[in-house]
Amino acid sequence: MTTTAGVATSIRVTPVSASRRREPGTPQPAFGSVFSDHMLVATHRDGQWRDIEIVPYDQLSLSPATSALHYGLAIFEGMKAYRTVDDHLVLFRPQKHSERLNRSCRRVVLPEVPEALFMEGIRELVRLDREWVPPSDEGSLYIRPLLFGADDTLRVKPAASSRFVVMTGPVGGYFSSALNLVTSQEYARAFAGGTGDIKLSGNYGASMLAEKEAQAKGYATMLWLDAKEHLYVEECGVMNVFFVIAGKVVTPNLSGTILPGVTRDSVITILRDLGFSVEERPITITEVIAAHKSGQLTECFGTGTAAAIAHVSAITHEGEELTLPAVGRREIASAALDRLVQIRAGRHPAPEGWLVPI
Ligand SMILES: Cc1ncc(COP(=O)(O)O)c(C=O)c1O
Repeated sequence: MTTTAGVATSIRVTPVSASRRREPGTPQPAFGSVFSDHMLVATHRDGQWRDIEIVPYDQLSLSPATSALHYGLAIFEGMKAYRTVDDHLVLFRPQKHSERLNRSCRRVVLPEVPEALFMEGIRELVRLDREWVPPSDEGSLYIRPLLFGADDTLRVKPAASSRFVVMTGPVGGYFSSALNLVTSQEYARAFAGGTGDIKLSGNYGASMLAEKEAQAKGYATMLWLDAKEHLYVEECGVMNVFFVIAGKVVTPNLSGTILPGVTRDSVITILRDLGFSVEERPITITEVIAAHKSGQLTECFGTGTAAAIAHVSAITHEGEELTLPAVGRREIASAALDRLVQIRAGRHPAPEGWLVPI
């Protein structure tokens, strides 16, 4: 059966046949390895979004010359839908993700996705796969919008045709324990004038070797420092990073090399609302080490859509390991996480625009 969803942007919907429909089951431990029954696909050509469709989740057919594969013309987003305690489905801050997606598009000259297409496309997709959204205490539905250059040519140039794809899948927790981080004097994730502040697929490829080497030495992920001096703390793994120093929350300011995380923004808002002082400013690894030495570094945590808040157990910099207080004593990160979870579950009033009904 094919119908057109009643939305401003016309979306053709082809539901999966009854024989191919799958049981969602409980969220898998391996993040991002299970996909819901449907996906959204759209093509941009001759200055217009066209062929906007929701279809059964399946392979894409691509030419080997597809420009995204050769020249990295691919950007993405990561966001979530939640089931509230009273069984309503909501998207968490989708406008923020829509804005960031379009900022990423502009940086690599891909066509922007109109907010109506982004919002209505995702709402329609989640509506169709609503059974895939886990119960509020078990997990969430991860939503992965992807946009890539689909030109069938090896010429290096901005894409004349692009594809927008949105897939979803149920997820549980991301990390099972607190993270031990390591810095690098060799590798950097981002640099001034580069693409560290957008979600360009290539950013993740470029950090893979550092992550692999760190993990081979027993570290969970990187504490990224700036590319020029290897002095300023920027991010941790694929998360923004926060420290609690002398009772104050400190996070690196958005300098152009840091991804403006939606969770980062949410946690700053929540912490300020809870009465904590939050500073967004440059932080050197030297300051972190000094704060640890004087006993003033009481907490460190990462924030991101996938993990929400991930505690950091230790930081190793040039062979020196800083061990942080036990997770049970992390009052500030725990208070922020608790409030975030309550808001998403609909147990605590959400700030304007944070929960958008499906
Ligand atoms: C490099 C990087 N930093 C930070 C984040 C956290 O961003 P958000 O909170 O919007 O998920 C992500 C994940 O999207 C990321 O990939």
